[in-house]
Amino acid sequence: MSAMTTAHAPAEQLHPLFAGELTGTDLRALDDAALDGVRALMDRYAVLVIRNQEITDEAQAAFARRLGGQLVTTVGLRVINPAARSADPALTDISNLDENGEIMDLADRRRMYALGNRLWHSDSSFQNPPARYSMLSAKEVPATGGETEYADMRAAYDAFPDALKAQIEDLRAFHSIIYSRSTIGFTEFSEAERAKFPGAEQPLVRVHPGSHRKSVYVASHAEHIVGWPVPDGRLLLRELLALATLPQFVYRHTWRAGDFVIWDNRCTMHRGLAFDEANQRRDLRRVTTIDVD
Ligand code: OGA
Ligand code: MN
Repeated sequence: MSAMTTAHAPAEQLHPLFAGELTGTDLRALDDAALDGVRALMDRYAVLVIRNQEITDEAQAAFARRLGGQLVTTVGLRVINPAARSADPALTDISNLDENGEIMDLADRRRMYALGNRLWHSDSSFQNPPARYSMLSAKEVPATGGETEYADMRAAYDAFPDALKAQIEDLRAFHSIIYSRSTIGFTEFSEAERAKFPGAEQPLVRVHPGSHRKSVYVASHAEHIVGWPVPDGRLLLRELLALATLPQFVYRHTWRAGDFVIWDNRCTMHRGLAFDEANQRRDLRRVTTIDVD
C-alpha cells in the first residue's frame, strides 16, 4: 500500500465495500508523500473519515488546494445565500445557523434551498467540470440524527445486470440543480439564480481514473437522458438511482465534532439525514475541488 499507510497509520474499513477511517493523522501537517498516500486511500475507499481534526476554515481550504488543486467557489450559492458565515467563497456553510450563529427559522429560504442536500446527489454534477473531492469538517453536531449517508457507485455499477450495463454505456444525462430542487417543491428561483445554474451534461458511466473501475454517475440532479423522450429517461434515471443506493451499497456516517470526512464525487453519492432542526445545532463546513488536472 501507500507510504501513508506505513508511515502514518492504516485505514480501517468502515463498510464491507468502501469507506475507510484513517487514524493518527493531523491533516494540517502532511508532507507531499503523505498527501499522495491520502489520494491512494481515496482511490481505494472513496470515503475517508479522519476524527479529531481541529482545523480552521483557512486550513481546510489550504488542505483541499494541496489535495486536489482548484476549488469550487460558492459564487453561485452566494446569490442564494449572501449572508454566508465565511468570507472565503471556497467555504460552503453546511449548517442550520444564520449569520448571527443562531438556529435558522424553519421557513428560512436558505434552509429550504439547503434541504436539497437530503436527496442523493454528487456535488456539482450540474456543473462542468463537476466536483472531484468534497470534504466536510464538523464543528457542532446534533445529539441524534443529521447523519450523512454515502453510496458506492462503483460497487453498484459492478452489480448491474450486463444488459443494463450495455444499455447505459454511451448515454449522457442532463443535470440541473433547478430541477433537483423542483422535485421537492422548491421552485422559487429568480431569473438571476436560474442564469447562474444552467445545468450540464454528464456521461452516465465514468471510469474512475485512480482505480480504473467503472462507476454509474447519477444523482437527483439528473433530469433527463440526452436524446431520449423525457419520461423514458426519467424512469431509467429513477431506476439507476434506486439501484445505486440499495442498502448494501450505503455507509452511514454518524458525526462527532472534530470529524473530517473526504469523499470522491466521481464514484459516490451522498445525502444528509433529518434531525431536530428547530432545537439542535448542526454546523459543518464544506470545501470541494473541481474535477480537473
Ligand atoms: C454537502 C452535503 C449533506 C449533509 O455538504 O455537500 O450534501 O449531511 N451535505 O450535510
Ligand atoms: Mn453535497
